[in-house]
Amino acid sequence: MFTVFRGGQSGAWRVTRLAPVKGASLARTPALSSVYSASIALPILPSLTSWRLAGVASHVRYTERAEKNQLIEAQAPLGRPDATCAALIPIKKSAAWWELTQEERRQIFEDRSNHIAGSLKYLPAIARQLYHCRDLGEPFDFLTWFEFVPAHADAFEELVAMLRATEEWNYVEREVDIRVERERLDAG
Ligand code: HEM
Repeated sequence: MFTVFRGGQSGAWRVTRLAPVKGASLARTPALSSVYSASIALPILPSLTSWRLAGVASHVRYTERAEKNQLIEAQAPLGRPDATCAALIPIKKSAAWWELTQEERRQIFEDRSNHIAGSLKYLPAIARQLYHCRDLGEPFDFLTWFEFVPAHADAFEELVAMLRATEEWNYVEREVDIRVERERLDAG
């Protein structure tokens, strides 16, 4: 199953900011929607769609057992009614990253950049889902998605700034930062 994000004229999320962090941007668009689909090539109305990005929620590659347990213990689900702020951050890493071995990448990702150890304290405030798309012929390698309440917007800025200053990010060759908001989902 694929998750397809569509930037377009309408959608559940209103785009509040869309800016390139590194490399080429994506076209500006007023709204974002996402669908869970059996097809990577969803039929779209070209006139209403600026771009579409697809990915797969896959198994973990670098996370070790103790870390996985800590993540499961701390994490919050997507779709919390009051998490009205979200970020879609598509990322492509360089050929140099992909030429490394799994073990070398893990050393950079965690031993030297503390991606997991440094980010854990932002759970459960920030709910997250990583989608892989490197092998799907997509323009990015990863689609990263985060949801949080407005009161945690500053914490999220701190988190992305912390990660962007790591050795891991030397291997990021394209990154676009898309921030979106929606109305509160009321239970009743
Ligand atoms: C909310 C706190 C965060 C936590 C707890 C977290 C945790 C993780 C974990 C556990 C993985 C490894 C998955 C695996 O083993 O394959 C991962 C991968 C990744 N994360 Fe985060 N993350 C956080 C925030 C972020 C942010 C804010 C970004 C982007 C700005 C980001 C970008 C990525 C990317 C691109 C990968 C894939 C790395 C690769 O496979 O080369 N993460 N994250």
